[in-house]
Amino acid sequence: METKILIKDVSAPGDLILETETENLTLEVELPSGEGLVNSKEESFKCKLGRSRDLQSDKTHRTATPIIKVIDVKKSYTLGGMEVPILHDINLKVLEGEFLAIMGPSGSGKSTLMNLIGFLDRPTEGTIIIKGLDINKLSDKEVARLRGLEIGFVFQTFNLIPRLTALENVELPTYANARSGVDTHERAKELLKLVGLEDRMHHKPGELSGGQSQRVAIARALINDPAILLADEPTGNLDSKTGCEILNIFRRLNEDRRTIVMITHDPEIAGYADRIVLVKDGIVQNTE
Ligand SMILES: Nc1ncnc2c1ncn2[C@@H]1O[C@H](COP(=O)(O)OP(=O)(O)OP(=O)(O)O)[C@@H](O)[C@H]1O
Ligand SMILES: [Mg+2]
Repeated sequence: METKILIKDVSAPGDLILETETENLTLEVELPSGEGLVNSKEESFKCKLGRSRDLQSDKTHRTATPIIKVIDVKKSYTLGGMEVPILHDINLKVLEGEFLAIMGPSGSGKSTLMNLIGFLDRPTEGTIIIKGLDINKLSDKEVARLRGLEIGFVFQTFNLIPRLTALENVELPTYANARSGVDTHERAKELLKLVGLEDRMHHKPGELSGGQSQRVAIARALINDPAILLADEPTGNLDSKTGCEILNIFRRLNEDRRTIVMITHDPEIAGYADRIVLVKDGIVQNTE
């Protein structure tokens, strides 16, 4: 993989009006200044990355094929014998190579939806199709393999194993699932180089900064070369500048044709995606 990661500087304040354009839809969302930023003092930082609309002429990394299809999905939890509906009727398609941002109020069901897409949970009703495969028709073993090979997860809290080094953390998923013929140790090293951590491979998570930990988590998510990267508030625990660096890594991975679905509360971060969907009251408010 030829991807180069460039960590760019951030500067210049600006408004927090979020705008994304699709062929048929223009969506504007105004959020309170500073929402989603870890440190309000940091809110004047702004990523100097090309916005999605600047890239309209270069969408070659996207195809018209949906890689994720969520069809009439409902999800309820049973609490104290009562069924509590969380997701009411979700329909969503994500195209191969697309960079999709998911936004919405706290508790609206964003993580629940992402966990369904990533097969960490099963829907109460409805169908989820990943790369043409219907989860309802797969055995638990097949689901585990599909998840292990085709889906990489990145979480807000990094979820690294404290007693393992960065390199061991990156290699860890390959003990459960690995692509044949791949030297996973070498690939783990290459991925850590890719995210700029060549000199931190043998450090443990406690010896890494938040941004460095998240880069390890991204390398771990990429170890089996998944088609889809799911990120649940990956910059939520980071200051704006570090969040921008992480976003830049996602952008480069997307330019390398990887499909990315990212939950964020930060309208500026979401503004770099190809498309934004809003989850509110258990439904997707805008969909193509
Ligand atoms: N395992 C569970 N059992 C019962 N209820 C749950 C469970 N997981 C989530 N919920 C409920 O589902 C709702 C949606 O939760 P979810 O974590 O998807 O929200 P979210 O949009 O990701 O919120 P946030 O922005 O705060 O992360 C919440 O009301 C939550 O309490
Ligand atoms: Mg959440």
